[in-house]
Amino acid sequence: DWIMGDYIEEAVAKIREQVGDEEVILGLSGGVDSSVAAALIHRAIGDQLTCVFVDHGLLRLNEGDAVMEMFAGKLHAKVIRVDAADLFLGKLAGVNEPEAKRKIIGGLFVDVFKAEASKLKAANAGSKGATFLAQGTIYPDVIESGGAKSKKAVVIKSHHNVGGLPEQLGLKLLEPLRDLFKDEVRELGVALGLPRGMVYRHPFPGPGLGVRILGEVKKEYADLLRRADAIFIEELNNWIDEATGKSWYDLTSQAFTVFLPVKSVGVMGDGRTYDYVVALRAVQTSDFMTADWAELPYGLLKKVSGRIINEVRGINRVTYDVSTKPPATIEWE
Ligand code: XMP
Repeated sequence: DWIMGDYIEEAVAKIREQVGDEEVILGLSGGVDSSVAAALIHRAIGDQLTCVFVDHGLLRLNEGDAVMEMFAGKLHAKVIRVDAADLFLGKLAGVNEPEAKRKIIGGLFVDVFKAEASKLKAANAGSKGATFLAQGTIYPDVIESGGAKSKKAVVIKSHHNVGGLPEQLGLKLLEPLRDLFKDEVRELGVALGLPRGMVYRHPFPGPGLGVRILGEVKKEYADLLRRADAIFIEELNNWIDEATGKSWYDLTSQAFTVFLPVKSVGVMGDGRTYDYVVALRAVQTSDFMTADWAELPYGLLKKVSGRIINEVRGINRVTYDVSTKPPATIEWE
């Protein structure tokens, strides 16, 4: 609409004024905030923006390709995809403890991003390289870090973010979404031409499937989980609630599949199976601080479990997580 059009024009002018003829780098994650920030900044300064997309191998099915198709393919933005799956999986081998896993993933992410930033600088010898780091910080993030002092002393989960990165890289910050709430960011994304599916996606944690595979992360587990989760998400999108006309994907705040590295016995044809278990998690919440498990229709659960067990060889049992937050958290790690 015209209001959003005006907003975009203003934001574009502001970014141009702030950046001048300098260069900007941005860490693209595939999440809503960094995607919208990238699309907006690209609208403003085109090729003065370079996006770095670190693929840690813990993304959802086809997610990496979809991000590249959108930003490099459709928007013609400069995007460097760093395939760091082997690096991440290598460092995660043998690590079971959730906080240890989070620290490894967060630390590697920063290392890889920094290495890419200095490579870019070296490649453009003569130019001073990027002088700005762009981030998709939104208003609630600003509030949260401002209120950090009042935060509970107990860290439940160390959140993966790139805090401190601008100082380490000696870059100025560019945060064009700082004044916006999540729904405004989404509207802006649609107005900038991003697909609704990308903009209205459920949140996905920075450590990705790393915190949805319990205990040690292995490629084999990640591959099974990706396929099971894709089925769950597809069916949530397909299942329309008659009363509201909305899909169950839209009726839930976050839904995903968790890989449990335990095996259980099953029967298939006239043979015995001894395969892995997954848990489906779907919650409804307004602030993610508390959450209720979603009362998904039995028919939907039946369809999803049937498809996962039949289509994903290696998984023979599907469970549904009926825990509220608190005392359970939304993610399992
Ligand atoms: P929990 O599991 O603490 O999750 O109830 C609350 C919300 O935060 C998301 N989450 C994260 N998001 N980096 C993020 O960007 C992280 O490290 C992270 N850990 C959890 C989680 O998906 C849920 O939406």
